[in-house]
Amino acid sequence: MSTLIINGVTMQAKVGERVLNVARRNAAHIGFACDNAGVCQGCRCSVLRGEEHLSPPSEAEKAWISADRLAAGERLACQTVVRSHGEVHVLSRAEELRLLIMGIVAPPHGESRLNPIAPLASILLQTSIDQVTQFPGNIVTSIKRVGFVRFAFPVLDRERLLHDTQRVVQRMTNRSVPIRSVRKQATAIPILQITTEEEPQAR
Ligand code: FES
Repeated sequence: MSTLIINGVTMQAKVGERVLNVARRNAAHIGFACDNAGVCQGCRCSVLRGEEHLSPPSEAEKAWISADRLAAGERLACQTVVRSHGEVHVLSRAEELRLLIMGIVAPPHGESRLNPIAPLASILLQTSIDQVTQFPGNIVTSIKRVGFVRFAFPVLDRERLLHDTQRVVQRMTNRSVPIRSVRKQATAIPILQITTEEEPQAR
């Protein structure tokens, strides 16, 4: 059994599971619009530690994320598989953006609301640059990989999508996590212990 710490929350994962499936099982704050097709980009995340326990970048990831960003630890959680036992720390892009925005809207006591603006702008700019520089290879590769119909209509299970989204919202509204607006501080978020049922091999 491996340990994934996603957005500061500890989760158990089996070798062979996709990071996104572990995150969804535990209602982690992460995007998952395309049901593991690797085309929506909602599950982008940063591996902060433990990348040696994960699969290398897939064709889908190479199509959407620049080599520099991959080397820096950016991944698509739906394409990333736990390969060995160990501890892996992950910060989802969705959570990173939420923390930065919250740092502007409601900065922690003693911190300026201007501090998160530069990192927020940097992430948004970098993402846009990635999409432009990878175009049209990202689109062509994706269509070749999953087919045009799946690319255009990536949601396979709408019920599951709605159900999982609802669980994420519920968990986030029940959970009190200190706002940390800096990526390096992500691992300093208090770790919540969660016990979950194991699920079969990821789809
Ligand atoms: S869930 Fe869509 S790219 Fe990963």
